[in-house]
Amino acid sequence: MPKLFKDILNQSSFSKSDLVTMLSADEQNRKLLFDKSASIKHEYVGNKVYYRGLIEFSNLCGKDCLYCGIRAGNKKAHRYEVSEEEVLEAARYAWENKFGSLVIQAGERSGADYVNRIERLLHEIKKMSKGELGITLSLGEQSEETYKKWFDAGAHRYLLRIEVSNPELYHRYHPNNKKHDYQQRLNALFLLRKLGYQVGSGVMIGLPFQSLEDLADDLMFFREHDIDMVGMGPYIEHEDTPMFEYKDQLMPKMERFYLSLKMVAVLRIMMKDINIAATTAMQAIDPMGREKSIKVGANIIMPNLTPTKYREDYLLYEDKPCTDEDAEECKRCLEARIHMAGGQIGYGEWGDSRHFLKRKT
Ligand code: 5AD
Ligand code: FES
Repeated sequence: MPKLFKDILNQSSFSKSDLVTMLSADEQNRKLLFDKSASIKHEYVGNKVYYRGLIEFSNLCGKDCLYCGIRAGNKKAHRYEVSEEEVLEAARYAWENKFGSLVIQAGERSGADYVNRIERLLHEIKKMSKGELGITLSLGEQSEETYKKWFDAGAHRYLLRIEVSNPELYHRYHPNNKKHDYQQRLNALFLLRKLGYQVGSGVMIGLPFQSLEDLADDLMFFREHDIDMVGMGPYIEHEDTPMFEYKDQLMPKMERFYLSLKMVAVLRIMMKDINIAATTAMQAIDPMGREKSIKVGANIIMPNLTPTKYREDYLLYEDKPCTDEDAEECKRCLEARIHMAGGQIGYGEWGDSRHFLKRKT
C-alpha cells in the first residue's frame, strides 16, 4: 500500500522518493506540509528572524553563467562598484540599527587589488563596529589563500550556491570551460568548511529541464554536505541572457513560487536547525513571498542596504523588487512584514546557524 502523506511527514528520515512525494504535494497536502514545517521551525529555531544587511558591492563579473543578468557577456548591463566610503556608511547603518550582520555580495572577480580591497573593507567594518557586526561574504569561487585572507580579516560565513547539484544540469546552465567547473565549485565549498567558515549554499528552482527528482537530489546534497545555511529561490528568466530562449518551456511563475515554498518547508523538516533565508527572488514573484517563506520555515532575511543609485544595476533577473527604496524604507517595510508573519526580529544578534554551533562543540 502506498504511504499516506501525513505518515511521511512524521518520519525521522526521508528517502528520495519521500522527498519527491512531498515536493509534489497537491493543495490539500501542501497545507499539511506547511503546518508541519512551521511547527518544526518553531520547536528547533524559534520564531526569531535574523537580519543580514545586504550590500550588492559590485555587478562586475568575470563569469558567464547562462541564466544571470550580470554575466560578463551581457553588454547591456551598466557596471558599477560601490565606493569604500559608501560600504562603510551602509555598514554603519546596519550596526546602528542593530542588524547583527552584513552580507557583501558581488559578481565573481579575482586579482590582487580586488582581494586586498575586500580585505581592507573587512578590517574597517570590524573596526568601525567594534567587532560587533558579523560578516558574510558571497563573492564566488576564490583560491584557498584568498578565502583564508578574508577569514583572517573577519568574515566568518560564506555563501556559495551550488546552483544545481546535478553535474550534468550544471553544465547545461554554464559555458563549457574551466571557469565554470562543477568540481571546482564543489571543492570551494570544502575549502570554506576546512578554513572554519559557516558554509551556505543553495540552488535555483524551476530551471528548464529540471525535474522534481533533481530538486530532491538538491535537498539531499545539502544534507550530505552538512550545509549550515541555505538560500534558494525560483529561477526567473532575464531577457538579456542565453537561457531566455527557454522561457516558453518554464512552469508558470506562481508554480515556481509554490515549488520554492515547498523546498523551504521540506528542507526545514529534513535539516531542523540550519539557517534558511527568505530570498528576494521569492518576492519578485509574490509581493508577500518572503513572509510566506518565513511562515513555512525560513529564519533569515537580507534587507537591502545597497545605495539606491546602484540597485537598478544589480539585476540578476526580471522584476527584482525594492530597487527604488532606500535602506530606511526597506527596514520599516520588512519590520511590518515580519511581524505580520508572526516573527520577531533578532536585533543585535549574529543569529549563527545552530547547526554550525552544534558541530563545533
Ligand atoms: N533567477 C534566479 N536567481 C538567479 N541568480 C542568478 N541569476 C538568477 C536568475 N535568473 C541567483 C544565483 C546566484 C545568486 C546571487 O542569484 O543563484 O547564486
Ligand atoms: Fe557572475 Fe555567474 S554570471 S558568477
